[in-house]
Amino acid sequence: MKEQLEALGVKALAAIDEVSDLTTLEEVRIQFLGRKGEMTTILKGMGKLSPEERPVVGQIANALSEQVTGAFYAKRDALEAAVLNAQLSAEQIDVTIPGTAQAVGRQHPMSRTLGEALDIFIGMGFSIAEGPEVELSANVFDKLNTPENHPSRDWGDTFYFDTDNKYVLRTHTSAVQVRTMEANKPPIRVVSPGRVYRKDEVDATHSPMFHQIEGLVVDKGVTMADLKGTLNALVQQLYGAETATRFRPHHFPFTEPSCEVDCQCFKCRGKGCPMCKGEGWIELLGAGMIHPNVLRNCGIDPDEYSGFAFGIGLDRMTMMRFNISDLRLIFENDLRFLAQF
Ligand code: DAH
Repeated sequence: MKEQLEALGVKALAAIDEVSDLTTLEEVRIQFLGRKGEMTTILKGMGKLSPEERPVVGQIANALSEQVTGAFYAKRDALEAAVLNAQLSAEQIDVTIPGTAQAVGRQHPMSRTLGEALDIFIGMGFSIAEGPEVELSANVFDKLNTPENHPSRDWGDTFYFDTDNKYVLRTHTSAVQVRTMEANKPPIRVVSPGRVYRKDEVDATHSPMFHQIEGLVVDKGVTMADLKGTLNALVQQLYGAETATRFRPHHFPFTEPSCEVDCQCFKCRGKGCPMCKGEGWIELLGAGMIHPNVLRNCGIDPDEYSGFAFGIGLDRMTMMRFNISDLRLIFENDLRFLAQF
């Protein structure tokens, strides 16, 4: 039995030594050390030994069992470590490789100018009104006291939607004045930014689509002084407290009296430079006291109420604010251009 045990030990150790994966190792363990394994079977036969032989063989058997079990655990640890190492090197991450840069977006210069202007108006108590870009000609022209034969209604100047000329792409945000007055009772104090459309050829200063901010104030006792005060406050907050304004007489069908408002060139402070084309002044907007016909057309009694309105060209304002020389750059959305702001 002693020889039998020793031969089995050699066989078991050799088998463990040969194994190169955990599944086979488990099979080897069952083969030798399992409940019905070869080692166990031999040990079960110990009962047949004489009382003198039993402790001697028992000692050998224990030592052998310890040796084989030890070899098994050592092999298992080695194989598990190898598996782990293989996995670690397969999943290796090189933290020193430069990452993929995430592009950070930014506001379009036009949105920034609009945001700044709206902040100033909201600070003066205005709220924001909106109107559709496809508008009734009645709101764009008729109710704004713009008669049938006015040049701005011409097919050559305006995008109509139907042969009856009932719907147009609005040519100015002034149409929102009509919607606001028809839907609200004075006091009214709103600004309305948005897109407008005219049949213009694209060049450095023209586009068939551009942006305006309309302003409308209606209340009892509103005068030209309120108009001037409001627009001066806007200009001074935009371009500095020392910036002068100039109100030139003008004509708009929907205001009487009407004016155009220039601000002193904020680049040269009135001396004349390329920015203001040598004028010293930059044209900012059109404005005026709302024509009594317009108030009446919108259901407001001109004997009780008066008001002023203005229309600012947002694109021009953006070009001046950021020193942009070509209007097309604002609309092309070339990232190489936009990333500069
Ligand atoms: N609607 C005019 C335009 O597009 C601008 C304008 C002038 C708006 C005078 C007004 C105003 O509200 O009172 O040229």
